[in-house]
Amino acid sequence: MEKTAELYEGKAKKVYATSDESLCIVSYKDDATAFNGEKKGTILGKGVINNRLTNRLMKLLSENGIPTHYVEELNERETLVKKVSIIPLEVIIRNISAGSFAKRYGVEEGIVFKSPTIEFSLKNDSLGDPLINEYHALALGLASEQEIRKIKEYSFKINDILKAFMLEHGIELVDFKLEFGRLPDGTMVLADEISPDTCRLWDVKTHEKLDKDRFRRDLGGVEDAYNEVMRRLLGEKA
Ligand code: TMP
Ligand code: ASP
Repeated sequence: MEKTAELYEGKAKKVYATSDESLCIVSYKDDATAFNGEKKGTILGKGVINNRLTNRLMKLLSENGIPTHYVEELNERETLVKKVSIIPLEVIIRNISAGSFAKRYGVEEGIVFKSPTIEFSLKNDSLGDPLINEYHALALGLASEQEIRKIKEYSFKINDILKAFMLEHGIELVDFKLEFGRLPDGTMVLADEISPDTCRLWDVKTHEKLDKDRFRRDLGGVEDAYNEVMRRLLGEKA
């Protein structure tokens, strides 16, 4: 499958059309941003790692009954996916307090929750991805009641699957962000990526951060952390 026109350039990926109208090619960049694009940088090799990790995790999820946009990995940085229209909600699942949760509610990072939480943000960088609830999403027509019910069902199931898989490899899944899209027939599938850019991943023993917080917070060792996640989850180095 060949790329034709570039459809869209995001902060971490480009999306291309193909000769098949129902398929797109996603190309992962090494560009990194934080704080809605305010902080910019490069994480060398990130595109390759995020592409391969996302595909591994998408395959795991689809084997476990979650429909996804994944079709085929084309090369180190590029993947063929089903074309979807993205539902403009960022769905965040949390198992342990961290990041904006810790800040918003004035709690320390690292509290293991009694049960996982879910929240929705409106996908809009210029507004800073504001938190919204499901009534807002319904009122604005961003998703139907049935879709919201499915998003919640899938997201908690995805959490169970990913948490168990990561734990087998010595990684604690602290929190993560998901995006869903609609196929032309209206079917909802998991889209976007699942990577150290979009998850908080801590070493299970030392609680060392193995994700994009190393970039967001200038902790150093960013590339090493991404490589370590790749090594543990895929059993290889980038
Ligand atoms: P937060 O604590 O900053 O709200 O982030 C929660 C999770 O969502 C964390 O794993 C990082 C991920 N995330 C994204 O993937 N994209 C974003 O724009 C933000 C703000 C967070
Ligand atoms: N997606 C955020 C940004 O817009 C980055 C993040 O904190 O993950 O830069």
